[in-house]
Amino acid sequence: MEKVHVDLKEKSYDILIENGLLKTVAPRITALLPQVSKAAIVTDSNVGPLYAGILEMELKKAGIEAFIIPFEAGEKSKDLATLGEIYKGLAQNGLTRSDAVIALGGGVTGDMAGLAAATFLRGIAFIQIPTSLLAAVDSSVGGKVAVDLPEGKNLVGAFYQPKAVYIDPDLLETLPERFLTDGMAEVIKYGCIKSPGLFKKLEGIKDKTDLLAEISGIIEECCSIKARIVEEDEFDNGGRMVLNFGHTLGHAVEKTFGYEKFTHGEGVAAGMALITQRSEALGLTEKGTAKRIIKILEQYGLPVTADVSRGDFLSAIALDKKKRGKKITLILIQKIGESLLYPVDIEGLGEFLP
Ligand SMILES: NC(=O)c1ccc[n+]([C@@H]2O[C@H](COP(=O)([O-])OP(=O)(O)OC[C@H]3O[C@@H](n4cnc5c(N)ncnc54)[C@H](O)[C@@H]3O)[C@@H](O)[C@H]2O)c1
Ligand SMILES: [Zn+2]
Repeated sequence: MEKVHVDLKEKSYDILIENGLLKTVAPRITALLPQVSKAAIVTDSNVGPLYAGILEMELKKAGIEAFIIPFEAGEKSKDLATLGEIYKGLAQNGLTRSDAVIALGGGVTGDMAGLAAATFLRGIAFIQIPTSLLAAVDSSVGGKVAVDLPEGKNLVGAFYQPKAVYIDPDLLETLPERFLTDGMAEVIKYGCIKSPGLFKKLEGIKDKTDLLAEISGIIEECCSIKARIVEEDEFDNGGRMVLNFGHTLGHAVEKTFGYEKFTHGEGVAAGMALITQRSEALGLTEKGTAKRIIKILEQYGLPVTADVSRGDFLSAIALDKKKRGKKITLILIQKIGESLLYPVDIEGLGEFLP
């Protein structure tokens, strides 16, 4: 069992990582939250049929009245209408302030169930059981919960920490390959910004079997990197910015292709490769770094470039919500494992574009 403690004073919690954990979460929940008598399992139409039944049964065995609130899988469901359906499920099943919401799924499920938990009855206990790699290493850590509006992603949300995060890496065996690859982009990002050791370990992995054999340790390292960053900057006022390495150009890539051609991870991968080639050319990054990043991204089947014009980059970045006034802070790396915050004017941005 690997454990990462997230230290946020009275909002502290543990992230537990262990193969087969799904089958033992129920008694862990009753031990952690003895007041819970009902639990709503929020899950999507792909994950629910695979795993929700097992969880529901285990919760019942542990004396918790459990029921499932399913929704149609996909980012399109991360909206106010589906959130409304979740509230309805919670109300109709009579959840009280001493009960709990359990998110069983990827980042879409975690973000939306978390917002429901944060707001239903002004906040009830929230548990995360992330089932995608991205959710395990990124979205389930840090307490950001949200839904999308037609006007943009994650526009309605809150900071709401879970009581616990339970990661069962066995569940990743059914995750479609493209989503595994997608999550790997964020894993590689953690290596780039904070851990030469993780980066090296990832370079040494040969195939999917190898990766899944190592995945618990990899997830543990990513969660602890993110936990340390979140502890310093719970409400995203500055320090969390390093997590955006590859994201400024990455978002622009995703947006230019209407969020269809590139997944988030693919956009981030291209963004990391493109910006590091520029920062290296400008003498801000140790020589040879871009080549290493490109090589590892290719090794995991991720793109290293995108056919986006300068104009498209500039207009997408100008709209990026991370822009503060006229300045934008780019996240660069000095070398593998060391990041650098680099504020530039919009006019100065051109130098960093391919
Ligand atoms: N809160 C945060 O800090 C944060 C950080 C990063 C991303 N996010 C959000 O996360 C979301 C993306 O997360 P995601 O990539 O996990 O998307 P997702 O939840 O849509 O999951 C991806 C796909 O994989 C399927 N799936 C998940 N686990 C599975 C499993 N074990 N077996 C079979 N199928 C499985 C899902 O049904 C879905 O089709 C976005 O909405 C993004 O905004 C949030
Ligand atoms: Zn990301």
